Amino acid sequence: MNKIQVELKERSYDIIIERNSTKHLAEFLTQKSYSKIFIITDENIAKLHLAKLQSSLPKSEVIEIPAGEKTKSFSFLEKICEEILAKGVDRKSLIIAFGGGVVGDLSGFIASILLRGIDFIQIPTTLLAAVDSSVGGKTAINSKAGKNLIGSFYQPKLVLCNLEFLKTLPKRELRSGYAEVVKYGLIRDRNFFDFLDENHAKLFSHDVDFLEKIITRSCELKAEIVGRDELESGERMLLNFGHTFGHVFETETKYSDEILHGEAVAMGMAMAAKMSCNLGFIKKEISDQICSHLEKCGFTTDPKKIRKDWNEENLISHLAKDKKNENKNLTFILLKKIGEAFVQKGVELQEFKKILNN
Ligand SMILES: NC(=O)c1ccc[n+]([C@@H]2O[C@H](COP(=O)([O-])OP(=O)(O)OC[C@H]3O[C@@H](n4cnc5c(N)ncnc54)[C@H](O)[C@@H]3O)[C@@H](O)[C@H]2O)c1
Repeated sequence: MNKIQVELKERSYDIIIERNSTKHLAEFLTQKSYSKIFIITDENIAKLHLAKLQSSLPKSEVIEIPAGEKTKSFSFLEKICEEILAKGVDRKSLIIAFGGGVVGDLSGFIASILLRGIDFIQIPTTLLAAVDSSVGGKTAINSKAGKNLIGSFYQPKLVLCNLEFLKTLPKRELRSGYAEVVKYGLIRDRNFFDFLDENHAKLFSHDVDFLEKIITRSCELKAEIVGRDELESGERMLLNFGHTFGHVFETETKYSDEILHGEAVAMGMAMAAKMSCNLGFIKKEISDQICSHLEKCGFTTDPKKIRKDWNEENLISHLAKDKKNENKNLTFILLKKIGEAFVQKGVELQEFKKILNN
């Protein structure tokens, strides 16, 4: 078992990474004596893993939702809140988010507003949720105007990652989550990136030692950054490495299966590396090394391989809406070297176009 603390004074919590045990959950619940426990999960996870989780939570109530991004919406928010209220909830109740980033973001937001805030814990079942969305307290639903625009910063009381649950994850979802793992190496830890470059093949053989190591190191790095900048006023922005480009393609493909989040981030990291090179911050061989690692893992680094004819005007208009931009000046997270990212403001639109057109 590995334990990492997210240090946020009275809002501090543990991230527990374990192979196959419910011991820690039982201990946590004994200390807290909750009046009622609501498990929010999606239909895929319910089929595969709910019985196992419930065996240690006999008195819990389950709220099962369809799988997919569409549940991060006002209508599901309302439906679930009403259902929990109808079942009877008080300030000593607990919500367990049991699933990927979708279930985690939605459940966390519900926990933050029900009765003006009740406790919640995250039990991530995707690699993306284990290394990214379950840690750091960003919760949200989507609106017609865009993704994750309605939400709150609301920290869980515990993040419990049981590697057993990840075993059933489809290969494409596993790879998508791995993009965020590579991101931590690129922005903060050169040795970690080198380790990934040597060992990435172990990801698809579900090597538990490898999974445990990459989840632990990713969570340590995220916990350090969130501990210093919970509300993303500075350093936490570095976690957006690859996301500025990535969001442009996700928005254009309407967050469909054409590109999964991690696939867009991987492509975005390759583009950010190329931009870092074009602007003279890193040598071409470094940018090539990054692209080569991503391609070895099966990611596409060139948007033209996904669609030949992206609508450039649309892409630029999505880019202009990026939250990091100030007074219409484009902002990107770039690299000084592998293991060191920084915020670059005032990037010319021409630089984006250059990368887009190779
Ligand atoms: N809060 C944050 O900081 C943060 C960070 C990154 C991403 N996100 C959000 O996370 C969401 C994406 O999360 P995701 O990639 O985990 O997607 P997801 O939650 O939609 O899960 C992906 C698919 O895998 C299935 N699944 C989940 N666990 C499984 C398992 N163990 N075995 C088999 N199938 C399983 C799900 O049912 C779903 O079909 C997006 O909404 C994104 O905005 C949030």
